[in-house]
Amino acid sequence: MAALMPRGTGTADLPVLRPAYLWERRRLADGTDILIRPIRPEDDAIEFDFIRGLSRDSAYNRLLSARRLTAREIRRLTRIDYDREMACVAVSGSGTQARLLGVARYVRDEAGRSAEFAVVVADAWQRKGIGTMLLQALQGHARAAGLANLHGITLASNLAMQNLGRKLGFAQRAEPGDATVRQIEKALVPDTAGTARVAANDAWVAPRHSTRLSEAPIGGA
Ligand SMILES: CC(C)(COP(=O)(O)OP(=O)(O)OC[C@H]1O[C@@H](n2cnc3c(N)ncnc32)[C@H](O)[C@@H]1OP(=O)(O)O)[C@@H](O)C(=O)NCCC(=O)NCCS
Repeated sequence: MAALMPRGTGTADLPVLRPAYLWERRRLADGTDILIRPIRPEDDAIEFDFIRGLSRDSAYNRLLSARRLTAREIRRLTRIDYDREMACVAVSGSGTQARLLGVARYVRDEAGRSAEFAVVVADAWQRKGIGTMLLQALQGHARAAGLANLHGITLASNLAMQNLGRKLGFAQRAEPGDATVRQIEKALVPDTAGTARVAANDAWVAPRHSTRLSEAPIGGA
């Protein structure tokens, strides 16, 4: 059993095209304005702070392991292949004030019609609706991208994820042979209008400037 991590080397050496649709401004109940958008390579630094800032419990629940991600792995998380993967981030502030509050991502299975997903929200921002918003955005993109199924695994002790999944209509069942985890899964209704929007989307834009960032590790990992 392993928690979701992207496969391969990502888009580090490819020109990065990223979807410009899927940007959504939302307001939390406490009045905080957030932006939900696809992740991008320039998010390295805020992704790094986000991951390093997670409590031991949240990190464990996300990774199903106590190990810390290396700087290289964190970099990989921001360099996704948008054909095979999607990661929606919730961000507050902008410029040097930008903070990453949560991420929901999927990686397509080899067969292509289903994908494994995972979601994590910064501890101080949990229970404010961000996980719901992120998973809804990810689901919407998955449907438009032609996926028929999203599935994931969560610790049997992780009631927050199980309740979030239940709220959004994910079915849950025991993992055969492993009582410590549960599978969560949802069949997706095709979104043909969304698919047309994605297909016709000349809003797949190249970044305005180079995204090649320094290869130096961001921190002490
Ligand atoms: C699971 C997680 C993503 C939920 O994110 P969140 O932003 O707190 O979720 P929301 O505020 O949108 O809450 C949605 C629902 O989830 C459930 N929920 C969230 N936190 C909960 C908690 N601590 N205890 C019980 N239920 C909880 C509730 O049903 C909630 O609906 P409600 O607020 O109307 O009661 C978050 O707790 C997290 O990041 N946990 C650590 C990483 C993790 O476990 N990831 C899942 C592995 S795939």
